[in-house]
Amino acid sequence: MIVLGIETSCDETGVALYDSDAGLRAHALFSQVDIHAEYGGVVPEIASRDHVRKLLPLINQCLRKAGLTRDDIDAVAYTAGPGLIGALLVGTATGRSIGMALGVPALAVNHMEGHLLAPMLEDEHPDVPFVALLVSGGHSMLVEVRAIGEYKILGETLDDSAGEAFDKTAKLLGLGYPGGPALAKLAEHGNADRFRFPRPMTDRPGLDFSFSGLKTHTRNLWLKGEKDDETRADIAAGFQQAVVDTLMIKCRRAMQQTRAQQLVIAGGVGANLSLRQTLQQAGKKYGWKVSYPRLEFCTDNGAMIAFAGCQRLMAGEQTGPVLKAFARWSLDQLPPLGTTGS
Ligand code: KG4
Ligand code: ZN
Repeated sequence: MIVLGIETSCDETGVALYDSDAGLRAHALFSQVDIHAEYGGVVPEIASRDHVRKLLPLINQCLRKAGLTRDDIDAVAYTAGPGLIGALLVGTATGRSIGMALGVPALAVNHMEGHLLAPMLEDEHPDVPFVALLVSGGHSMLVEVRAIGEYKILGETLDDSAGEAFDKTAKLLGLGYPGGPALAKLAEHGNADRFRFPRPMTDRPGLDFSFSGLKTHTRNLWLKGEKDDETRADIAAGFQQAVVDTLMIKCRRAMQQTRAQQLVIAGGVGANLSLRQTLQQAGKKYGWKVSYPRLEFCTDNGAMIAFAGCQRLMAGEQTGPVLKAFARWSLDQLPPLGTTGS
């Protein structure tokens, strides 16, 4: 089955063609980062309009790359939530219309399920069951994946997501938007031990996160202290180390609690090299297998939506002819594989 995947939940237009036999045939992405940069963050209306402009040309580009035509598409999978509602509606309307025009099934895909399953696109992919650390701009959570479609949220953020904490701290330090990658780059040159940073919520049991206190601590440190380049880099390094340590401590607890053997890192913050290295080392020390998607499939992309959609479409699922998108849509509301058909 060849599935066209469409992702438009935020500021990236992503398209892919996934073949259930041959794997990923092609993918294409247009990032709106430069468009939103001058506003210091994503402007939802501009995001929606740009998805309208870019989506169809990207689909054509992707078909050309794969050496396929529209008639080769057996089904369409589109992100229907969670995300920015206007942006989601562009992918939803386009995905449904292509499905109708071609007379093939179309399926609404949960964006977080896409992130969660993205490591399965790799040759050396994890097998279920596993525990996933899902850290993106919109979410931070630990999820027990018992099977594809069977998810139990073990813990989640009580306030900011890890990505938001990176982005807001980067903004404070004057690093622009999007802040995560810029802050990580600056942190490479900093001394993480110069200032003391808290490891939030690690002194009590449980698997929830909270990053707003860490953000405030960083703000106070920056506003009250020196404003030279060395201090900026040292704060970036100390902040990153605190986030990474906190995530590592919670991952270790989740692995102990579930007795899982495999840990998967997914979502945009999963592109952070310090986080990947730290969890890789922890895996060696404690005997877990650690997997993550290639860097470009950590952040938003069409391939993860095509893949997640393909699993459900192959199980006989499809979405009825309705245009519905969801700003919020929790992973634990998802049905087990193959159980919807409306
Ligand atoms: O998964 P994603 O592309 O979008 C959402 O679904 O939210 O995640 C985007 C987030 C942003 O907050 C961005 O700053 C963060 O991932 N990010 C990083 C890195 N690359 C992206 N954070 C830390 N280090 C990175 N290298
Ligand atoms: Zn995402």
